[in-house]
Amino acid sequence: MGAQWGDEGKAKIVDMLAADADVIIRWQGGCNAGHTVVSNGKTYKFHLVPSGILYKNKICIIGAGTVIYPVALETEINALIKEGISLKNLKIHPLASVTMPYHIEIDSISEDGITNETKIGTTKKGIGPTYADKFGRCGIKVQDLYDEEFLSKRLDSILPVKNVVLKEVYKTKTYTKEELTDYCKRAAKILKPYVCNDWQELYADIQKSGKRILFEGAQGVMLDIDWGTYPFVTSSSPIAGGAATGTGFGVQQINEVIGISKAYITRVGEGPFVTELDNLAGNRIRTIGQEFGTTTGRPRRCGWFDAVVARYAVQVSGLTSMAITKLDVFDAFDQIQLCTSYKDTRNGKIYNYYPTNVNTHQYLEPVYETFSGWNSNITAVKKFKDLPKDAQLYIKRIEELIGIPVSYVSVGPDREQTIIMKKCRI
Ligand code: IMP
Repeated sequence: MGAQWGDEGKAKIVDMLAADADVIIRWQGGCNAGHTVVSNGKTYKFHLVPSGILYKNKICIIGAGTVIYPVALETEINALIKEGISLKNLKIHPLASVTMPYHIEIDSISEDGITNETKIGTTKKGIGPTYADKFGRCGIKVQDLYDEEFLSKRLDSILPVKNVVLKEVYKTKTYTKEELTDYCKRAAKILKPYVCNDWQELYADIQKSGKRILFEGAQGVMLDIDWGTYPFVTSSSPIAGGAATGTGFGVQQINEVIGISKAYITRVGEGPFVTELDNLAGNRIRTIGQEFGTTTGRPRRCGWFDAVVARYAVQVSGLTSMAITKLDVFDAFDQIQLCTSYKDTRNGKIYNYYPTNVNTHQYLEPVYETFSGWNSNITAVKKFKDLPKDAQLYIKRIEELIGIPVSYVSVGPDREQTIIMKKCRI
């Protein structure tokens, strides 16, 4: 799971861990996520399909806690098929929620400020409105697409209210029942080969045969609907607890919780970000780290590693270890800074814990420790002891500040470019 604001390089770590798993389940989010895996020199981009699909014979499930925009999933699936990837092991949970066309429109209109809603900088994939309807109990689930009678009743109850809101609040087009029924028929056709109606048998078999499950998060702790920098968050639960509610596997089945952080931090969209760098160092991180959104292409905001955020992630997700990615981005830096706490510029108060009231963040400045860069290429290093001393010091200090071990250090995009410090049990 992501321990920052998403884009931590989760896909690479998930891909590596998937080698030891039998089942990979994505628990939340939708096509707002962009997961890039480089395998044997080839780049694959995922949004909703678990990247474990690159392995033969691993069951990959799009969990009940996700939201599915069928048109986007179709594009993703077709791209994978074109690359020769087999999707025979892809399963979609029938309790996942379906993004309707009006969810996409509402997301866009809200972001463009027409309704005076707070600009979040969303991916405009309809995520917030789909989750809002799910929790408002006026959403459509995947299983509803295959029950004509029930779907008709659902549309009859949803549509009159939705059309008033679309017309009067969002000043946009309304829908007829026929239009939405056609949309649902198309969605049903796209998803049908993958919908796992016998999921209870499958889960029983997974449990009985002791299969190893890898729960794959999207986004990150700081974008969590409950624990993130609200309202500048996504609308799902990227924290570890979400893995249980989003998949239907019990919490006691989770024995390791691996957070993933970059050696620095990035954020896309609006919201507070105490270590953000609006200077040359920030630009260098962006350019060298290729920090542009996989889903939207937006330039990411960049800043130094923030141990306050990392400790918060450890706390609210019960992380058992942290994977640090993209350490090689610092290969040509003379100096690296590491934020250990925040200082309130109004009264000098030091925060070692993350202040959850985002309004206070405008008054906070980072307290840094400065590290010497290593000025050498670490992309071929395989063992921690072979890293330059300054790189070792940096990682060791992170470990000390966050209070849990660093299990993996990634020094390049390929599967092989990973230093294993503590092999996690799947
Ligand atoms: P939404 O998930 O599209 O509603 O966007 C809400 C916030 O989460 C925005 O700040 C997005 O930029 C951010 N966000 C959503 N998905 C991702 C992701 O996969 N990586 C990083 N940020 C994301």
